[in-house]
Amino acid sequence: MQTVRKRSVIKLIGLSALSVAALTACGKKEEPAAPAAPAPAAAAPAGDKLKVSFMYVSPIGDGGWTFQHELARKAIAQKFGDKIETSMVESVPESADAERVLRDMAGQGNKLIFATSFGYQEFVQKAAADLPNVKFEHATGYKQADNVAVYDSKTFEGAYLAGIVAGSMTKTKTVGVVASVPIPEVVRNINSFVLGAQSVDPSIQAKVVWVNEWFAPPKESEAATSLINGGVDVMYQNTNSPAVLKTAEERGVYAFGKDGDMSAFAPKAHLGSAVIDWTPYYSKVVEDTLAGKWQSGNFWWGVKEGAMDLVKIADQVPQEAKDKVEKAKQGLKDGSFAVWTGPILDNKGQEVLASGVVGDDAFLRGINFYVKGIEGAVPGAK
Ligand code: GUN
Repeated sequence: MQTVRKRSVIKLIGLSALSVAALTACGKKEEPAAPAAPAPAAAAPAGDKLKVSFMYVSPIGDGGWTFQHELARKAIAQKFGDKIETSMVESVPESADAERVLRDMAGQGNKLIFATSFGYQEFVQKAAADLPNVKFEHATGYKQADNVAVYDSKTFEGAYLAGIVAGSMTKTKTVGVVASVPIPEVVRNINSFVLGAQSVDPSIQAKVVWVNEWFAPPKESEAATSLINGGVDVMYQNTNSPAVLKTAEERGVYAFGKDGDMSAFAPKAHLGSAVIDWTPYYSKVVEDTLAGKWQSGNFWWGVKEGAMDLVKIADQVPQEAKDKVEKAKQGLKDGSFAVWTGPILDNKGQEVLASGVVGDDAFLRGINFYVKGIEGAVPGAK
């Protein structure tokens, strides 16, 4: 295995068969029909390889968000072999440091750069404006440019599926969420989790504690403790570490893994993990780039595209709930079900989606309220 040094671009040399074997299957549906660049007869000289780099906000060992990006990086390194050379820098803060790292990556010859956290947005925009020959991919922002595409996973679908399980397991009828940074994506996930729980029992209430960071295990743990002290017995989180699950394990309540499979961190407390697989999207982008067909755009893949799933549902979860999760998944795949289908009320009693109306992408990207049953208000919302 390569040594990983913080904030320096490290070349990927070896690839552990073990880590690749651990990857979930790639969805192929959205891959372009056109073949990738023709395979060279002999191994391409180093200079001909497409250099691809990844910038991460937390350590690759976070067990969640960044861990999953890293698994996908390893998967594409194996898939594309000597056509590409990949590297990564971990624990890069969402500050001017990020711009420096991006420029450094470009200076080292990387022509495709993935910036994998929302708060990198302005730094990606600045670097990309000066580096027109480099393609940038930004998760999970909204600002595009000729050489900047944005992409995301439909994490709210996984949150809804987890919510179904939570709704079937809560005894106190109060579920909770440890929330990270107050952006629509996170508010949407909180709401989707609660909508899933209320699809089992509409009387379920919810509490939220914000930690205002993506990765802060001690704070995540404190937030989980305060939720439990407030009567919550099933928790979800939108932070990057397994701290909430570990706290649940210690306190004898339930929680979920998010982004990665976190089952190993809390065997008794773990009810399921809402896992993102970035591999299908990363494969598509590399294939397009090798074929000279890279394009800017806004890509949002979910259960349908094999980018999102709820895995390792615990044995103790009633079969009825497991069947309900399976039905919702099938509906998401064949388009017969959408999480955000009215009637949906906010927590002030205002109708936000009328009966039968499905929230479109613009609606989903602007969610800035709590649904019925969630205590309090979204930070900064009027
Ligand atoms: N950076 C670290 N974790 C996350 C996440 O869950 N969402 C977004 N948008 N950025 C992140």
